[in-house]
Amino acid sequence: MGEVITVTSGKGGVGKSTLSANLSVGLSELGKKVVVIDFDIGLRNLDMILGLENRIVYDVIDVMEGRCNLSQALINDKKSKNLYFLPASQTSDKDILDRNKVKILLEDLKKDFDMIVIDSPAGIESGFEHSIFLADRALIVSTPDVSAVRDADRVIGIIDAKSEKAKNGEEVQKHVVINRLNPEMVDSGNMLGVEDVLNILALPLIGVIPDDSKIITSTNKGEPIYYDNESEAAEAYRRIAKRVIGEDVPFLELKGKKGFFKRLFG
Ligand SMILES: Nc1ncnc2c1ncn2[C@@H]1O[C@H](COP(=O)(O)OP(=O)(O)OP(=O)(O)O)[C@@H](O)[C@H]1O
Ligand SMILES: [Mg+2]
Repeated sequence: MGEVITVTSGKGGVGKSTLSANLSVGLSELGKKVVVIDFDIGLRNLDMILGLENRIVYDVIDVMEGRCNLSQALINDKKSKNLYFLPASQTSDKDILDRNKVKILLEDLKKDFDMIVIDSPAGIESGFEHSIFLADRALIVSTPDVSAVRDADRVIGIIDAKSEKAKNGEEVQKHVVINRLNPEMVDSGNMLGVEDVLNILALPLIGVIPDDSKIITSTNKGEPIYYDNESEAAEAYRRIAKRVIGEDVPFLELKGKKGFFKRLFG
């Protein structure tokens, strides 16, 4: 049975879709059969990051409403043959997701895939609860600023209250991803550091992704940064994928002032 991994956040625009795309590529490169689903109804993004927007015919709502079957809607990635993508619908009706239909869809996918990555809308959007209620694991993305961290903290509370696992007395595995960290800004006291964020969220860390202007270029090209051998952010995504499958890999020493990372982690 496949594992459902939901990539989520409190605040919008913190890097969920970018992480979902690169993590999914990473997991598939590590030999897992992966499907990544865009649950951000009305706003398509993931297709652009993966470079698959021209291949879309059907979407996740078409599958749930029975207008096509799953194999008609699933799009195979161009590079990673183990990776499939299920696009979001562009309907303006954001409340179209139905709890039971989401459940049936995910149960179906679990039979065929090792990992089901859900790119969730931000915590305040409708559709958010549908993307977390069946999660086995949640990756909570935050940028290192007070408002994003505060919103992430709220979302953690919602996951603990509203997920199916929580209702059954179990716990959704939760990890924090800190995105867009700028070591110089942390050093000069103008940005929260890793430990500051972890102190507030009180959850284990699974990755720190540096701020990297190449990410915007890679999205424009429709080629995930993952494949860029010179990018520190790409290396961060590779390490997150490895940690998700249980490998114990050290955290990246981000370039910045020397010794910065060591100090953060004691
Ligand atoms: N590490 C990074 N360095 C630089 N830019 C980044 C980084 N991560 C994401 N971005 C940029 O930030 C913007 C938002 O990223 P993304 O779409 O992944 O966020 P999101 O959380 O999915 O947003 P939404 O809540 O709207 O779905 C994009 O322009 C993306 O290219
Ligand atoms: Mg997004």
